[in-house]
Amino acid sequence: MVSRRRAGEEYYLSEQEFMEQKQFDDLVQWFGGYIQRYFSLDGDTYLNNNLHLKECHTHRVCGETRLLAKALKLDANDTRIAETVALLHDVGRFEQFKKYRTYKDSTSEDHSVIGLRIIRQERILEALDAHERHWIERAVDYHNKMALPAGLDEKTALFSKIIRDTDKLDIYYIAMENFRQYHENPCTFQLEIEFPDEPCCSPEILDAVEHGRLVDYRLLRTMNDVKLLELDWAYDIYFGATLRRIVELGYLKQIIAWLPDTKEVKRATQAVMRYVDNRINQPDT
Ligand SMILES: [Fe+2]
Repeated sequence: MVSRRRAGEEYYLSEQEFMEQKQFDDLVQWFGGYIQRYFSLDGDTYLNNNLHLKECHTHRVCGETRLLAKALKLDANDTRIAETVALLHDVGRFEQFKKYRTYKDSTSEDHSVIGLRIIRQERILEALDAHERHWIERAVDYHNKMALPAGLDEKTALFSKIIRDTDKLDIYYIAMENFRQYHENPCTFQLEIEFPDEPCCSPEILDAVEHGRLVDYRLLRTMNDVKLLELDWAYDIYFGATLRRIVELGYLKQIIAWLPDTKEVKRATQAVMRYVDNRINQPDT
């Protein structure tokens, strides 16, 4: 028996309740084979390019999850569980895109629900301990919800927070790449531009960023609003270690450099950076 500490109480797991490295390696192999079923062999490049984006996203989120697990000093077992969540969090995206040709959950299906269906149909977590299966499935389910439900057990909350943070890290990565390409050459930019590149920022959004409130997406009007929204995500990050990584990658500084140099923008960006500086200097508990 192995003893572990949870919120001040001692509890015990038998050896077979630990996910083994071999079980994790088998899941990685399963994932690689599974997604191949969705790629087109007869030249549907639109489908293949979109699926490839999600395959790359998954691998980057796995990498960020390993880094975050290390920063949080998780043990080997919890690291494997966190990485399993990362590997499976978007497993529903492949079926979603092939079936509906979109990643919009609102016009197709919630991709985490599709993912949970696949996990059960394929019986890929059956060999794991029931607690571990529960933590993984719950975290996959909660990764794309507006907020985490209240009253979660410690491990479900931990793995759910990790995937929400590392998923967001990769959303930053993709958004930064898109903005960089746009700013380098707006005329050749390939992707759809959802909001006009106008010099103004919406006052309600500036106010939300300045006062640490979450931005209501319905208020977005301009490309600058989207950049402010990305700064505002900093308030929605769970771990100081994730914020340290965002700072280390230079995302916030770069977004601020792309915003107009006005006193309203300065007030909002200084507020968010004050919050970030404060958080990154506190230890993760
Ligand atoms: Fe997702």
